[in-house]
Amino acid sequence: MIKFKDISIVNKLKLQDPEVAEHINSKVKKFEYLMSISKLNSSGVEFKSIVRSAKKWIQKILNCEEIVFYRFKAEEELFIYNTHEGKDKHLSEKKIPTSVNSFPRECKNNMAITEYSDCTADIKLSSLPEHLKKLGVKSLLLGPLIYEGEVIGVIEASYRSLHKFSNEDHYFMEAICNQLTASMENVILTERMNSQFVQIVQSLADAIGKKDAYTGGHTKRVGVFADMIGDEMDLTFEEKSNLKLAAVLHDIGKIGIEDKILKKSSALTNEEFEIMKSHPALGHEILGHIDNFKNVTDGMRYHHERPDGKGYPFGLVGDEIPKLASIISVADTFDAMISTRPYRKGLPPMVAFQEILNNSGSQFCTEVVTAFEKGFKKTHMYRPKGLVKNKRAS
Ligand SMILES: [Fe+2]
Repeated sequence: MIKFKDISIVNKLKLQDPEVAEHINSKVKKFEYLMSISKLNSSGVEFKSIVRSAKKWIQKILNCEEIVFYRFKAEEELFIYNTHEGKDKHLSEKKIPTSVNSFPRECKNNMAITEYSDCTADIKLSSLPEHLKKLGVKSLLLGPLIYEGEVIGVIEASYRSLHKFSNEDHYFMEAICNQLTASMENVILTERMNSQFVQIVQSLADAIGKKDAYTGGHTKRVGVFADMIGDEMDLTFEEKSNLKLAAVLHDIGKIGIEDKILKKSSALTNEEFEIMKSHPALGHEILGHIDNFKNVTDGMRYHHERPDGKGYPFGLVGDEIPKLASIISVADTFDAMISTRPYRKGLPPMVAFQEILNNSGSQFCTEVVTAFEKGFKKTHMYRPKGLVKNKRAS
């Protein structure tokens, strides 16, 4: 590859006019950084990895203090971004609903490079990530990532001093957005394929909903709780996708359970309960043969195992239980506890929450319970003031 900095005219200029040479050199470097972004191969990786790699180059091209990538999720109508929090700078995922007046929303609506030479008095400032507010951001330049006519994300470059944006800044921001979108094509296509696959799997899970209304609704709620837990754990993109599928499918084996047991309106006898306990194995019989689906089916197959070995069907202990199964176990049990059945009333969510915490390490994996506790305290599903303190943690 030709390296611009090797072009002899620049070297000659260095001798004749160092200032002009420096100016040209800085432009040449910017083009080199742009080319580095274009070479990012998105095959088999996720959006986050691409933006992490691109960040340092974008910062250099735009001479800004910080870069934030907002991923736009059309189906959920929100922007997602990652930020480092706390003393340990833990990376966590944050969301801004599109109903909130924010800088990325403005850029998305404009579908064009959007600048704020002085954003200090703007009402949208409140939507800025906390670390940017602390940085004392004064100017912002935002660019939309447009794929097939739709905005899939927004890049936000922030400046600590008042910045007067030039045509060149706009030009480079546009070039960055174009390069990044091209580099992420595989990610976008993979995500679309995954989402179609989840829909197919969902329709499979709906079959169980038709057989037993409780299990149908339960499956959906377990998916929500598992997602909430997964968001608080350091899961890879692949693990998150598998978790979604495993949560949807975790009770698919109940298709094979007789209606008189599955739909029984009173408590199950010991014998009936033994039959009911076969559902993880039945689920594995249905889906276990699918290639590359092992992690998903394991999440389903072992979701009734417990770290203390008292679970079923195998009585696995501690780390023998796959992580995804441990997450589903907590999500599943929490929902089962708060659900009202014909033969018993559901527990208040706060009581069920405390039950999960009390059984950390015995019935549930400690790491998963910690994530559940964090996610639960952030959620708006239940009143946070009703939350009780984890006795074990205190
Ligand atoms: Fe189950």
